[in-house]
Amino acid sequence: MQIHSSIPDLRAALKNRGRVVFVPTMGNLHAGHISLMEQARAHGDTVVASIFVNRLQFGPNEDFDKYPRTFTDDCAKLEAAGVDVLFAPSEADLYPEPQEYTVDPPAIQNILDGEFRPGHFRGVATVVLKLFNIVQPHAAIFGKKDYQQLMVIRDMTRQLALPITVIGGETVRAEDGLALSSRNGYLSTEQRAEAPRLYRELNKIRDAIRAGETDTVNLENAAISALAAAGWKTDYVAVQQQSDLTPASAVDRPLVVLAASRLGATRLIDNLEI
Ligand code: PAF
Repeated sequence: MQIHSSIPDLRAALKNRGRVVFVPTMGNLHAGHISLMEQARAHGDTVVASIFVNRLQFGPNEDFDKYPRTFTDDCAKLEAAGVDVLFAPSEADLYPEPQEYTVDPPAIQNILDGEFRPGHFRGVATVVLKLFNIVQPHAAIFGKKDYQQLMVIRDMTRQLALPITVIGGETVRAEDGLALSSRNGYLSTEQRAEAPRLYRELNKIRDAIRAGETDTVNLENAAISALAAAGWKTDYVAVQQQSDLTPASAVDRPLVVLAASRLGATRLIDNLEI
Protein backbone atom coordinates (compact mmCIF):
# COMPACT_ATOMS: atom_id res chain seq x y z
CA MET A 1 0.00 0.00 0.00
CA GLN A 2 1.31 3.42 -0.93
CA ILE A 3 0.99 6.14 1.72
CA HIS A 4 0.93 9.82 0.76
CA SER A 5 0.48 12.88 2.88
CA SER A 6 0.94 15.64 0.31
CA ILE A 7 -1.76 16.56 -2.20
CA PRO A 8 0.62 16.75 -5.22
CA ASP A 9 2.13 13.35 -4.36
CA LEU A 10 -1.29 11.76 -4.07
CA ARG A 11 -2.44 13.28 -7.37
CA ALA A 12 0.68 11.97 -9.11
CA ALA A 13 0.17 8.51 -7.60
CA LEU A 14 -3.44 8.35 -8.84
CA LYS A 15 -2.62 9.13 -12.49
CA ASN A 16 -3.49 6.19 -14.76
CA ARG A 17 -4.95 4.14 -11.90
CA GLY A 18 -8.34 3.69 -13.59
CA ARG A 19 -11.58 4.21 -11.65
CA VAL A 20 -10.83 5.21 -8.07
CA VAL A 21 -13.10 4.17 -5.20
CA PHE A 22 -12.63 6.31 -2.13
CA VAL A 23 -13.30 5.55 1.55
CA PRO A 24 -12.66 8.59 3.76
CA THR A 25 -12.14 7.96 7.49
CA MET A 26 -10.84 9.63 10.62
CA GLY A 27 -8.79 6.54 11.51
CA ASN A 28 -9.04 4.32 14.60
CA LEU A 29 -10.33 1.73 12.19
CA HIS A 30 -12.64 -1.11 13.19
CA ALA A 31 -14.45 -3.90 11.34
CA GLY A 32 -17.07 -1.41 10.12
CA HIS A 33 -14.44 0.58 8.24
CA ILE A 34 -12.79 -2.58 6.94
CA SER A 35 -16.10 -3.80 5.53
CA LEU A 36 -16.35 -0.49 3.58
CA MET A 37 -12.81 -1.06 2.22
CA GLU A 38 -13.76 -4.58 1.13
CA GLN A 39 -16.93 -3.36 -0.60
CA ALA A 40 -14.91 -0.67 -2.37
CA ARG A 41 -12.98 -3.21 -4.40
CA ALA A 42 -16.13 -4.20 -6.34
CA HIS A 43 -16.75 -0.63 -7.52
CA GLY A 44 -13.50 0.29 -9.26
CA ASP A 45 -9.86 -0.39 -10.07
CA THR A 46 -8.01 1.40 -7.26
CA VAL A 47 -9.13 1.64 -3.63
CA VAL A 48 -8.05 4.81 -1.86
CA ALA A 49 -8.64 5.34 1.86
CA SER A 50 -7.97 8.53 3.79
CA ILE A 51 -7.23 9.13 7.44
CA PHE A 52 -7.71 12.68 8.65
CA VAL A 53 -9.18 13.84 11.95
CA ASN A 54 -11.02 16.88 10.69
CA ARG A 55 -10.95 19.71 13.21
CA LEU A 56 -13.68 21.59 11.29
CA GLN A 57 -16.38 19.08 12.21
CA PHE A 58 -15.72 19.10 15.98
CA GLY A 59 -17.39 21.63 18.28
CA PRO A 60 -15.27 23.56 20.82
CA ASN A 61 -16.26 21.20 23.66
CA GLU A 62 -16.04 17.98 21.66
CA ASP A 63 -13.39 15.27 21.57
CA PHE A 64 -11.06 16.51 18.80
CA ASP A 65 -7.97 16.39 21.05
CA LYS A 66 -8.72 13.01 22.58
CA TYR A 67 -10.05 11.40 19.38
CA PRO A 68 -8.06 8.13 19.17
CA ARG A 69 -5.15 8.29 16.73
CA THR A 70 -3.86 4.80 15.95
CA PHE A 71 -2.00 5.31 12.67
CA THR A 72 0.34 2.30 12.74
CA ASP A 73 -2.45 -0.17 13.55
CA ASP A 74 -4.71 1.48 10.98
CA CYS A 75 -2.09 1.08 8.24
CA ALA A 76 -1.73 -2.63 9.01
CA LYS A 77 -5.52 -3.08 8.79
CA LEU A 78 -5.78 -1.18 5.52
CA GLU A 79 -2.91 -3.14 4.02
CA ALA A 80 -4.58 -6.43 5.05
CA ALA A 81 -7.88 -5.22 3.55
CA GLY A 82 -6.18 -4.72 0.18
CA VAL A 83 -6.32 -0.91 0.08
CA ASP A 84 -4.03 0.37 -2.69
CA VAL A 85 -3.35 3.93 -1.59
CA LEU A 86 -3.72 5.73 1.74
CA PHE A 87 -4.00 9.51 1.83
CA ALA A 88 -3.00 10.67 5.32
CA PRO A 89 -2.49 14.42 5.22
CA SER A 90 -1.39 16.52 8.17
CA GLU A 91 -3.47 19.57 9.06
CA ALA A 92 -0.84 21.69 7.28
CA ASP A 93 -1.29 19.58 4.13
CA LEU A 94 -5.06 19.84 4.07
CA TYR A 95 -5.56 23.26 5.65
CA PRO A 96 -2.37 25.23 4.82
CA GLU A 97 -4.38 28.39 5.40
CA PRO A 98 -7.59 28.92 7.39
CA GLN A 99 -10.43 27.17 5.52
CA GLU A 100 -12.63 30.21 4.95
CA TYR A 101 -14.55 28.87 1.94
CA THR A 102 -16.89 26.26 3.31
CA VAL A 103 -19.88 24.19 2.22
CA ASP A 104 -23.01 25.24 4.07
CA PRO A 105 -25.60 22.46 3.87
CA PRO A 106 -29.28 23.50 3.89
CA ALA A 107 -31.81 22.93 6.71
CA ILE A 108 -30.79 19.29 7.16
CA GLN A 109 -27.66 20.53 8.94
CA ASN A 110 -29.77 21.95 11.78
CA ILE A 111 -31.90 18.92 12.65
CA LEU A 112 -31.13 15.74 14.63
CA ASP A 113 -27.35 15.60 15.14
CA GLY A 114 -27.00 19.07 13.65
CA GLU A 115 -29.17 20.54 16.40
CA PHE A 116 -26.82 19.18 19.06
CA ARG A 117 -23.59 19.64 17.08
CA PRO A 118 -23.85 23.11 15.50
CA GLY A 119 -21.51 23.45 12.52
CA HIS A 120 -20.75 19.72 12.42
CA PHE A 121 -22.22 19.07 8.98
CA ARG A 122 -20.63 22.20 7.55
CA GLY A 123 -17.28 20.79 8.66
CA VAL A 124 -18.07 17.37 7.23
CA ALA A 125 -19.34 18.69 3.88
CA THR A 126 -16.37 21.02 3.54
CA VAL A 127 -13.73 18.37 4.16
CA VAL A 128 -15.51 15.77 2.03
CA LEU A 129 -15.80 18.15 -0.93
CA LYS A 130 -12.12 19.02 -0.53
CA LEU A 131 -11.14 15.35 -0.33
CA PHE A 132 -13.31 14.60 -3.38
CA ASN A 133 -11.49 17.35 -5.31
CA ILE A 134 -8.13 15.95 -4.30
CA VAL A 135 -8.84 12.25 -4.88
CA GLN A 136 -11.33 12.68 -7.79
CA PRO A 137 -12.95 9.32 -7.21
CA HIS A 138 -15.56 7.74 -9.43
CA ALA A 139 -17.31 6.31 -6.34
CA ALA A 140 -17.09 6.89 -2.59
CA ILE A 141 -18.38 4.79 0.30
CA PHE A 142 -19.72 6.04 3.64
CA GLY A 143 -21.17 3.98 6.49
CA LYS A 144 -24.92 4.11 7.13
CA LYS A 145 -24.24 4.38 10.84
CA ASP A 146 -23.72 8.10 10.20
CA TYR A 147 -27.06 8.21 8.38
CA GLN A 148 -27.49 11.98 8.34
CA GLN A 149 -23.89 12.45 7.19
CA LEU A 150 -24.49 10.02 4.31
CA MET A 151 -27.59 12.01 3.31
CA VAL A 152 -25.76 15.36 3.46
CA ILE A 153 -22.96 13.97 1.28
CA ARG A 154 -25.39 12.38 -1.20
CA ASP A 155 -27.37 15.62 -1.52
CA MET A 156 -24.22 17.75 -1.85
CA THR A 157 -22.80 15.43 -4.52
CA ARG A 158 -26.04 15.48 -6.51
CA GLN A 159 -26.73 19.21 -6.20
CA LEU A 160 -23.16 20.21 -7.06
CA ALA A 161 -23.18 17.73 -9.98
CA LEU A 162 -20.05 15.95 -8.80
CA PRO A 163 -19.36 12.93 -11.06
CA ILE A 164 -19.19 10.60 -8.05
CA THR A 165 -21.46 7.71 -7.05
CA VAL A 166 -22.04 7.83 -3.30
CA ILE A 167 -22.58 4.36 -1.81
CA GLY A 168 -23.95 3.62 1.67
CA GLY A 169 -22.31 0.72 3.53
CA GLU A 170 -24.33 -1.28 6.05
CA THR A 171 -23.59 -0.78 9.74
CA VAL A 172 -21.43 -3.50 11.27
CA ARG A 173 -22.50 -4.56 14.78
CA ALA A 174 -20.95 -6.44 17.66
CA GLU A 175 -22.66 -9.73 18.56
CA ASP A 176 -24.78 -7.96 21.17
CA GLY A 177 -26.02 -5.44 18.58
CA LEU A 178 -23.88 -2.42 19.45
CA ALA A 179 -22.95 -0.55 16.26
CA LEU A 180 -19.17 -0.48 15.86
CA SER A 181 -17.77 3.01 16.39
CA SER A 182 -14.42 4.53 17.22
CA ARG A 183 -16.11 6.16 20.21
CA ASN A 184 -17.02 2.76 21.75
CA GLY A 185 -13.42 2.71 22.99
CA TYR A 186 -14.31 5.48 25.47
CA LEU A 187 -16.80 3.19 27.29
CA SER A 188 -15.95 1.58 30.64
CA THR A 189 -16.62 -2.17 31.01
CA GLU A 190 -19.98 -1.46 32.67
CA GLN A 191 -20.96 1.10 30.05
CA ARG A 192 -19.97 -1.29 27.26
CA ALA A 193 -22.31 -3.92 28.75
CA GLU A 194 -25.12 -1.33 28.89
CA ALA A 195 -24.50 0.19 25.44
CA PRO A 196 -26.52 -2.32 23.29
CA ARG A 197 -29.70 -0.99 24.93
CA LEU A 198 -29.72 1.81 22.36
CA TYR A 199 -30.08 -0.65 19.47
CA ARG A 200 -32.64 -2.68 21.42
CA GLU A 201 -34.80 0.44 21.81
CA LEU A 202 -34.55 1.14 18.07
CA ASN A 203 -35.65 -2.44 17.38
CA LYS A 204 -38.64 -2.05 19.71
CA ILE A 205 -39.75 1.01 17.75
CA ARG A 206 -39.30 -0.75 14.42
CA ASP A 207 -41.24 -3.78 15.63
CA ALA A 208 -44.07 -1.62 16.98
CA ILE A 209 -44.39 0.29 13.68
CA ARG A 210 -44.33 -2.94 11.73
CA ALA A 211 -47.08 -4.24 14.01
CA GLY A 212 -49.24 -1.24 13.08
CA GLU A 213 -48.43 1.41 15.73
CA THR A 214 -48.78 4.90 14.21
CA ASP A 215 -48.09 7.14 17.22
CA THR A 216 -44.38 7.63 16.57
CA VAL A 217 -44.05 10.38 19.20
CA ASN A 218 -45.28 7.98 21.86
CA LEU A 219 -42.74 5.38 20.71
CA GLU A 220 -39.93 7.94 20.76
CA ASN A 221 -40.86 9.07 24.27
CA ALA A 222 -41.06 5.49 25.54
CA ALA A 223 -37.53 4.84 24.26
CA ILE A 224 -36.20 8.06 25.82
CA SER A 225 -37.77 7.04 29.18
CA ALA A 226 -36.36 3.51 29.01
CA LEU A 227 -32.90 4.89 28.27
CA ALA A 228 -33.18 7.47 31.07
CA ALA A 229 -34.16 4.74 33.54
CA ALA A 230 -30.91 2.97 32.67
CA GLY A 231 -28.81 6.12 33.14
CA TRP A 232 -28.65 7.49 29.58
CA LYS A 233 -29.07 11.17 28.66
CA THR A 234 -30.74 11.31 25.27
CA ASP A 235 -30.38 14.06 22.68
CA TYR A 236 -33.04 12.56 20.39
CA VAL A 237 -34.87 9.44 19.35
CA ALA A 238 -36.69 10.30 16.13
CA VAL A 239 -38.71 8.40 13.56
CA GLN A 240 -38.14 10.22 10.27
CA GLN A 241 -38.75 9.80 6.56
CA GLN A 242 -35.86 8.00 4.89
CA SER A 243 -36.10 10.30 1.87
CA ASP A 244 -35.19 13.60 3.56
CA LEU A 245 -35.06 12.95 7.32
CA THR A 246 -38.14 15.08 8.00
CA PRO A 247 -40.50 13.81 10.74
CA ALA A 248 -42.62 10.81 9.87
CA SER A 249 -45.96 12.28 8.78
CA ALA A 250 -47.23 8.99 7.38
CA VAL A 251 -45.99 5.63 8.46
CA ASP A 252 -46.58 4.02 5.06
CA ARG A 253 -43.39 5.44 3.57
CA PRO A 254 -39.87 4.14 4.18
CA LEU A 255 -38.87 5.36 7.62
CA VAL A 256 -35.73 5.38 9.67
CA VAL A 257 -35.45 5.70 13.41
CA LEU A 258 -32.37 7.58 14.55
CA ALA A 259 -31.01 8.15 18.04
CA ALA A 260 -28.21 9.91 19.85
CA SER A 261 -27.72 9.35 23.55
CA ARG A 262 -24.98 9.68 26.12
CA LEU A 263 -23.66 7.05 28.50
CA GLY A 264 -21.51 9.03 30.90
CA ALA A 265 -19.39 11.30 28.70
CA THR A 266 -19.68 9.11 25.61
CA ARG A 267 -22.22 10.07 22.97
CA LEU A 268 -23.41 7.13 20.87
CA ILE A 269 -25.51 7.36 17.71
CA ASP A 270 -27.36 4.62 15.87
CA ASN A 271 -30.24 4.15 13.45
CA LEU A 272 -32.44 1.50 11.94
CA GLU A 273 -34.29 1.59 8.63
CA ILE A 274 -37.92 0.48 8.83
O1 PAF B 1 -17.36 9.64 9.07
C1 PAF B 1 -16.20 10.09 9.23
O2 PAF B 1 -15.27 9.40 9.62
C2 PAF B 1 -15.95 11.56 8.90
O3 PAF B 1 -17.05 12.34 9.22
C3 PAF B 1 -15.50 11.81 7.45
C4 PAF B 1 -16.58 11.41 6.46
C5 PAF B 1 -14.23 11.01 7.16
C6 PAF B 1 -15.20 13.30 7.24
O4 PAF B 1 -14.21 13.74 8.11
